[in-house]
Amino acid sequence: MALVTTKEMFEKAYKGGYAIGAFNVNNMEIIQGITEAAMEENAPLILQVSAGARKYAKHIYLVKLVEAAIADTNLPIALHLDHGADFEICKSCIDGGFSSVMIDGSHHSFLDNIALTKQVVEYAHAHGVTVEGELGQLAGIEDDVNVASHSYTDPAQVEEFVSKTGVDSLAIAIGTSHGAFKFKPGQKPELRFDILDEVSKRLPGFPIVLHGASSVIPEFVATVNKYGGNMPDAIGIPEEMLRQAALGAVCKVNIDSDLRLAMTAAIREHLALYPGDFDPRQYLSPARAAIKDMVKRKIVNVLGCSGKANPL
Ligand code: G3H
Ligand code: 13P
Ligand code: ZN
Repeated sequence: MALVTTKEMFEKAYKGGYAIGAFNVNNMEIIQGITEAAMEENAPLILQVSAGARKYAKHIYLVKLVEAAIADTNLPIALHLDHGADFEICKSCIDGGFSSVMIDGSHHSFLDNIALTKQVVEYAHAHGVTVEGELGQLAGIEDDVNVASHSYTDPAQVEEFVSKTGVDSLAIAIGTSHGAFKFKPGQKPELRFDILDEVSKRLPGFPIVLHGASSVIPEFVATVNKYGGNMPDAIGIPEEMLRQAALGAVCKVNIDSDLRLAMTAAIREHLALYPGDFDPRQYLSPARAAIKDMVKRKIVNVLGCSGKANPL
C-alpha cells in the first residue's frame, strides 16, 4: 500500500454516512498511537502536518515515519498539509511527497481566496494531489493566527468558490473552533447545522471538512489538573453533534487538541506516580497508549469509519 489521496476516501465516506479522522502528527509516538488504533479498527486515516509540525520535526522525518506506518499497517493513509498559508508551502509539500494539501485562504478576501486556491489546485492536480480549501473563519488559535470570533461560512458563496477553484473538499465555519476553549464557561455548545444543511444542498455529493472538532473530554482536563496541571475549564464540541455531521456531508473531521490533552494527561500521571523516572520510553509508552485509546474512541463515537479501510 502506498499513500492515497483523499478522493476515493471521501467518495466512500459521503455515500456511507461516515467521516475520516484527520489527526495532527508531530512525532513517532503520536503517529504510532493513531495508526495502531486505526489498524485495530480497520479504519481509513488522514495524518495531517501543520507548518508548526514541519518546523518541529522536519518534513523528511514526518514523511518517513508515515511511510513506515503504512508499511507496518497496510492501511490506506493520506498525508495532508494542514492550514497551508501560501502557495510555497503547498508546493513544498506536494514536491515532498504529500498526497493532499490544504490551502487556507480564509483570511483573504473572497476573490483573493479564489485566486490563491485555484493556483494551488492547478499545481496539485498536475501532480496527482488533492486540495482542501476554506471559506469562513473559525475562532481560536492556530499557528500564529488568533481569531477572536467566528465568521460563519456564507452558503451563497460556496458554489462559485468550488467551481472557480476546482477544490476537492471544503472546510466551513459553523461554530467549531481551534484549541481547547471553544465556548465560554457556562455557554451551551451549539453548531450552525442550518449552514451545513444549506451548503450540502448547494453542493450535492461534495465533501465538507470540519476543523476545530475536538471534544475536550472533561476527565482528561481533570487528570491534567490532578497531577500538577493548571488548565482552566475547557468546553469542546459534543461528540454526538460531530457524529450527526459525519452522517451527512462532513467527510473529514480534524482532531488535534484531544490528542494533546490525552498525551499530556498520561505523561503527567506517569511522572507523578513515578517521580524518579527519567527514561523517556517509560513515560512515552503510556502517552502513545493514550493516543491510541483516544483515536479508537473517535472512530467509534464520532467518525463511524470502523471496518471501512480495506478494500478502500
Ligand atoms: O489547526 C491547528 C492544529 O491544531 C495544529 O496546531 O499549528 O500548533 O501544530 P499547530
Ligand atoms: P482542534 O483544536 O479542535 O483539535 O482542531 C484541530 C484542527 O482543526 C487542525 O486543523
Ligand atoms: Zn484547523
